[in-house]
Amino acid sequence: MRLTVAVLAILALAIGASAQQTGLYPSFPYCQCTKTPSAYRLSPTVTSTGAGTYCFTLSAKVPAGCTHKCCKADLKKIEFNVNDACDVFSPSLKATINGVRTKVAPAINKAQNGPVGSTTLVLTQLGLGLGNDGAQVCITLGLNKNGKGCTTLEELCVPPAGMPAGVCTAALFDSQNDCCPLSQANVPSPPPPSPPPPSPPPRCEVCAYIALVDPENNAPFPYAFSADECDSYAQTLIDDITAQAGDAGATIVTPFAKVDCQERLIKVCGEFFSNEEGALIQDWIGEQVSVWNDMVTGGQCPAYLSGYSVVTAVGGDGSDVNSLPMSCLNAFKSTACAPETVDFPKCQCTTKAFATPFAVKPMMSEMAGPSKDTTSYCFELAVVAPANPGSACGKTSTVNKAEFFADDTKRRQIKSIGIKPAGAAGYKWVAPSWGAVGDQTLKVTLGWSTAQAAGGRICLELYNTTSLDDFCMGAAMDTCWLNLFDTTRNCCPLYTSSLV
Ligand SMILES: *[C@@H]1O[C@H](CO)[C@@H](O)[C@H](O)[C@H]1NC(C)=O
Repeated sequence: MRLTVAVLAILALAIGASAQQTGLYPSFPYCQCTKTPSAYRLSPTVTSTGAGTYCFTLSAKVPAGCTHKCCKADLKKIEFNVNDACDVFSPSLKATINGVRTKVAPAINKAQNGPVGSTTLVLTQLGLGLGNDGAQVCITLGLNKNGKGCTTLEELCVPPAGMPAGVCTAALFDSQNDCCPLSQANVPSPPPPSPPPPSPPPRCEVCAYIALVDPENNAPFPYAFSADECDSYAQTLIDDITAQAGDAGATIVTPFAKVDCQERLIKVCGEFFSNEEGALIQDWIGEQVSVWNDMVTGGQCPAYLSGYSVVTAVGGDGSDVNSLPMSCLNAFKSTACAPETVDFPKCQCTTKAFATPFAVKPMMSEMAGPSKDTTSYCFELAVVAPANPGSACGKTSTVNKAEFFADDTKRRQIKSIGIKPAGAAGYKWVAPSWGAVGDQTLKVTLGWSTAQAAGGRICLELYNTTSLDDFCMGAAMDTCWLNLFDTTRNCCPLYTSSLV
């Protein structure tokens, strides 16, 4: 019994549905009417004014020579082919013509003679005619009280076969429902975003370095670049690279600038427009690193760089000049600084540096001399751990004398020698004393204890008519050689010192 009721109920539903929608006309507008000719159409472009409002523009133009009744008909009703899903209870719908609400609110209906599910949105009693060319017909879509409904044309309209969502088909009916020209309209999709502009080539960051490298701790006295030296060397790197890039047409996008001044590392960096442009000066920079090294070493390294390797390197952004990241420009030049060999002293004694506890610092200084036409060039002594403390030289406790490798044809260019043991209030200026002609040996007696030697100073007072470079022997610029003798004259470690 129950079963029978259920079956009957299903049958009744099925019959009811088919009774409502006959399927007589399988396609929109689901009725028998004349689609063409006609004076009416909706222009294909819909404007969306936001908040679910879409406006269609009516075109009312009688085709030339048309005498068909549909060319003279009025326009009473517009139907849109819409999705079944939009047929919700009491949908929020509104329509206006040229801003005035339509007499009858739009409605969503099942199409009586359409197939099952066919649905239309109907705007009727519009009262339009051939005089309404250009009329704005707007519909506003919204959700019902339960939050259901269709709010966009994409949701609302059944697009014509092969068309994307959002394209609506409308039929424009006259009062007799005899004429039903079809129109298609949609909101034009925004133009596809223009392809992003071609991304610029990757920049090429280049850094140039000048470093003093001493991995084996060969430099007995550590040297640090002064701020002035760093500024001056960095500026040379910057100026040279910038000028060469300009000549080669290599565009620098980030100007080269000093980025680091450490005690033994100078670094400048900049950016080229591209790897290709940076590479335009590769050949030049491969040669230029030698030029920059010579700028630091002066050809023959100064005494204070002895034991260091001067390294000029070009590459990416790094900190160790021996393993820089690769860049579009890469170069490397290392110069090991060792003192030259000199034929001095002219006597037999142990000349090895650090044979005794007494040494001469490799940096010397200059100051105005005690007379108005002289300049003093000053050496400073240091007390060090001797290389072999148990040896006779290693046990030395007195610096008896210093002897300089000097040009003895310039005997008249030196006025005096200033000596100032550590702790003394001032210099004592003594007459210079020379060895035999041709020995190139200038002598000064010291007789200093260890305490007096640690920081003790010796100055050569030269007339301004000569220079230290002329006066002292040896190839390196502004560099002098001197021995420090013990009392036995068996120990005479030889040192070299350069003006900084
Ligand atoms: C000699 O040189 C020193 C600087 O080293 C300077 O102070 C002095 O004025 C110079 N004397 C003359 C007469 O030019």
